[in-house]
Amino acid sequence: MKIIPQGPIHGASIERLLDLTFGHDRLDKTVYRLREAAPAVPGLSFVMEQDGAVVATLRFWPVTLPNHEQALLLGPLAVLPELSGRGMGRALVRHGMAEAKAQGWPAVLIVGEPSYYEPFGFAREKAEHLRLPGWVELPRFQAVELIPGALDGVEGLINPGRPAKPAWTRKAGA
Ligand SMILES: CC(C)(COP(=O)(O)OP(=O)(O)OC[C@H]1O[C@@H](n2cnc3c(N)ncnc32)[C@H](O)[C@@H]1OP(=O)(O)O)[C@@H](O)C(=O)NCCC(=O)NCCS
Repeated sequence: MKIIPQGPIHGASIERLLDLTFGHDRLDKTVYRLREAAPAVPGLSFVMEQDGAVVATLRFWPVTLPNHEQALLLGPLAVLPELSGRGMGRALVRHGMAEAKAQGWPAVLIVGEPSYYEPFGFAREKAEHLRLPGWVELPRFQAVELIPGALDGVEGLINPGRPAKPAWTRKAGA
């Protein structure tokens, strides 16, 4: 199954997939406080489709680090339950992280299962001095640097991000 960029037609089926996999009360979680101020990052929203229906989704949101730099929050990541265990989730994370690095993002944060995300380099230690605007299970709050040292000495509260520029303007330094 191919990973394709999310398009405007995918919005409603992504919401249905997220309601199915996480439940509607997902919107009350702390990570959603970080997704309210800006849309998902253009060029970092992906889906997998089967027979025209969305069966897997991954997006990234911009967040503001305590040093005022922009970074990414990975997720939500979801795969249709009947298709789980076929490597689709990992393929999406691998693809998304490679693209995030190519776009020049310095670091990625996640609130998720350590055993799932550690193979991608996420580590609790990298997020130890960071705080989110609400309660999370701390062992699930992890981070990875895409630019080595990007989180060195960065301590404090993570805030919502600014609407991110498309990749081509970021690469041009605009
Ligand atoms: C978690 C999820 C995205 C995994 O996608 P997937 O396509 O089934 O996963 P993959 O096939 O790439 O990987 C399967 C591996 O992940 C493990 N895995 C699946 N869900 C997991 C979870 N919630 N926590 C830890 N490991 C998990 C499986 O045990 C399997 O391990 P193995 O390879 O050692 O046997 C999917 O099950 C899902 O949508 N779950 C509901 C929503 C959710 O919890 N999203 C993640 C938020 S952090």
